Amino acid sequence: GNESTVSITVVGASGDLAKKKIFPALFALYYEDCLPKHFTIYGYARSKMTDAELRNMVSKTLTCRIDKRENCNVKMDEFLGRCFYHPGQYDSQENFAELDKKLKEHEVGRISNRLFYLSIPPNIFVDAVKCASTSASSANGWTRVIVEKPFGRDSESSAALTKSLKQYLTEDQIFRIDHYLGKELVENLSVLRFSNLIFEPLWSRQYIRNVQLIFSEDFGTEGRGGYFDHYGIIRDIMQNHLLQILALFAMETPVSLDAEDIRNEKVKVLRSMRPIQLEDVVIGQYKSHTKGNVKYPAYTDDKTVPKDSLTPTFAAAALFIDNARWDGVPFLMKAGKALHTKRAEIRVQFRHVPGNLYNRNFGTDLDRATNELVIRVQPDEAIYLKINNKVPGLGMKLDRSNLNLHYAARYSKEIPDAYERLLLDAIEGERRLFIRSDELDAAWSLFTPVLKELEETKINPEYYPYGSRGPVGAHYLAARYGVRWGDLAIEQ
Ligand code: BG6
Repeated sequence: GNESTVSITVVGASGDLAKKKIFPALFALYYEDCLPKHFTIYGYARSKMTDAELRNMVSKTLTCRIDKRENCNVKMDEFLGRCFYHPGQYDSQENFAELDKKLKEHEVGRISNRLFYLSIPPNIFVDAVKCASTSASSANGWTRVIVEKPFGRDSESSAALTKSLKQYLTEDQIFRIDHYLGKELVENLSVLRFSNLIFEPLWSRQYIRNVQLIFSEDFGTEGRGGYFDHYGIIRDIMQNHLLQILALFAMETPVSLDAEDIRNEKVKVLRSMRPIQLEDVVIGQYKSHTKGNVKYPAYTDDKTVPKDSLTPTFAAAALFIDNARWDGVPFLMKAGKALHTKRAEIRVQFRHVPGNLYNRNFGTDLDRATNELVIRVQPDEAIYLKINNKVPGLGMKLDRSNLNLHYAARYSKEIPDAYERLLLDAIEGERRLFIRSDELDAAWSLFTPVLKELEETKINPEYYPYGSRGPVGAHYLAARYGVRWGDLAIEQ
């Protein structure tokens, strides 16, 4: 039998994503002995560069996750020795045919599998896919293409993109990344739910009062304004990252852990969602703010952003799932840039204890008294459950305490970057964490109408200072459903 080899081509090798995430993730996989025995990595981009120059560029991005690990330098040199560069245009079949020739030299005598990672702007996706598939597909093994958002900016453009890609690739060959699915705690969601008796029975409208999906960053769109202004925070974070988490959180039990079974359930729950109402969405945009002698810029101070841009850098929304499990339970999403903190978390607020005996001496602050499960995706991964507890001592005084699974304290191993898991899965053909096209359609169907309404009616965003907690409108929205944002409560 022929041994196989995998050739990984990073298309757009000198871009930001490639440097920050893809090459470091490939090296981490190599370091952990997770890559196949035979592999070659090619950088492909327009600029003229030699193999040595690419290696030099890549070497600056590599770190050994845990400092001063054994063999790190040796491993780096071995890895860099397997990295090559080919300059070419993204729409040139001829240039891709040259790449094909070079790949073949490394693959000779083996079954050649090929993975293309498109780390390029969306307007050249289709050209690059066309060239890769017609001029540089594997002759005897698989050919897969990883693409990353934006997958269009509404239902129509997304469907058009899918249609164009499918002229050259089958659905099985397309690996759509949502890197939040590669995050440890997002992957753990299903384990938490389906392998612990104490959670799944509580996972419904009967016990859960509301669910909050929160994303915040403490920096603005610095340097990415050009891309961002065309999309806005709803498309950048909510329609994909937060919605994916919601789907995993709320889906029914899949038949098995197979990719198709899991994605079938995700699509089902997405299709059960109620259309989003304009009044259930609040948008904001950050304005400049001076703190001490530092002046933080407004979104529109970015040179690549039009001065009169109404693009939201913050949004909050209330979503509902019209099925038996979740009828009436608000799922509140909140996502923003240039806020006071960097965090991503899921908060599950449970209902009151009916006829709670302790209300008499615990006071009537029912909000304080209900349980809350927090899954902190980042930073400093943790899962904790707020419970009511007796303060030790004579008499009867209650307080709120946490049952706390703090990853850093419990697990000594560092958590791999999302891209490591996703790249490895793509090489292994594991599709569980990638977005199927019907899932993508369902996600766009949910958000497209309200995005259009927001844009057509030119709703003004609420302005919030850089580094603040965001627009107050988010509180009114939550209050309308009797909810308080858990992340803004004082945590004890
Ligand atoms: C990307 C968005 O998908 O996710 C960015 O385009 C955002 O705007 C980023 O900053 C956040 O990812 P992470 O992994 O740093 O939380």
